[in-house]
Amino acid sequence: MSLKQKAEAFLDLLESEEGGPGVTLARRSAVLREIDRHRFYEHTPEELLWGCRFAWRHSVRCIGRYFWKQLEVRDARQTECAEGLAEKCVEHLKLATNGGAVRPLVTVFPAQRGRVPWRVWNYQLVRYAGYAAEDGEVLGDPAEARFTEHCKTLGWNAPERPGRFDVLPIVVSGPGARPAVFEVPPESVLEVKMEHPEFLWFKEMELRWYSVPVVTNMLLEIGGIRYPAAPFNGWYMGTEIGARNLADWSRYDVLPELAERMGIFEKREGSLWRDKALVELNRAVLHSFREAGVRMIDHHTAAQLHVRFEEEEKACGRPVTGRWDWLVPPISGAASPLWVRAYDPTEYSPNFLNQKPAWE
Ligand code: ARG
Repeated sequence: MSLKQKAEAFLDLLESEEGGPGVTLARRSAVLREIDRHRFYEHTPEELLWGCRFAWRHSVRCIGRYFWKQLEVRDARQTECAEGLAEKCVEHLKLATNGGAVRPLVTVFPAQRGRVPWRVWNYQLVRYAGYAAEDGEVLGDPAEARFTEHCKTLGWNAPERPGRFDVLPIVVSGPGARPAVFEVPPESVLEVKMEHPEFLWFKEMELRWYSVPVVTNMLLEIGGIRYPAAPFNGWYMGTEIGARNLADWSRYDVLPELAERMGIFEKREGSLWRDKALVELNRAVLHSFREAGVRMIDHHTAAQLHVRFEEEEKACGRPVTGRWDWLVPPISGAASPLWVRAYDPTEYSPNFLNQKPAWE
């Protein structure tokens, strides 16, 4: 599809949207004229807002889409320097965290016009460093080992005494701007220390996680216009931390230690020590966020709300899309109402798309 066709498809979608901003004939011809002249057109603030909301609604991997209309947008399309982008990223963190009452938010940086776009290199605005030793052992988050290396090469001063939960800096590059490293001020990162509702010793494991997952490496596409830098967030679902980040063997891999402390660790897999430890870890995550007053959803409630979302979409005559392998929660899969459903994985536009890492 040409840019004109993509733009028109987006305007059609806007027009058909109940409760949406609508599209005037004058706007349609203005868009086409702008494309003729510049092979580009600028979204109005309303178009940007709804484009972002559609992009969330179309995100086939997201179980949280029931709340798509609540998404707020910060228009940062005029921000054209690395310091400016980094500053807006830190502001995003504060606004989205909102003292624990996490708000779904996207900050939209300049659209791609030339060959080199503005990019924020991080996977998320907040992530923990992974320090790889010679023997391959990683201190911290192994998923961030590569990015941590890049940060160091770009001049990041890692803490003198590296730990398991060191917040990584933000890396920004753009047209005429070589990659630059910006420290995230600690006061803008709300973290939750993990404790368990019954196991008093749990806090001795000194586990923690940050409050808000702000995905930064995806490309926002609206009506043929590409926004390679558009950090967005919702709130966490407990299992993302309890069944993946802290539990995966290729991540923090805490299940053996937890099972040991619970006194249930053994060779025999058939005792299901892993499963028991997993459930307690997930209880601890949900309990800790709750105690800290940070918004988080459990996977059962999230799945129920996704079913509601599917029903609403059907009622509006829209196709329901999804990726089964992403939507079904990573624990108690068959206990979820999503397990028995089938999904069409088509990624409609607008959407948040994967793109090559900025360093490639
Ligand atoms: N799964 C990712 C993580 O654990 C976050 C992805 C986005 N999650 C969300 N709830 N919006 O950090």
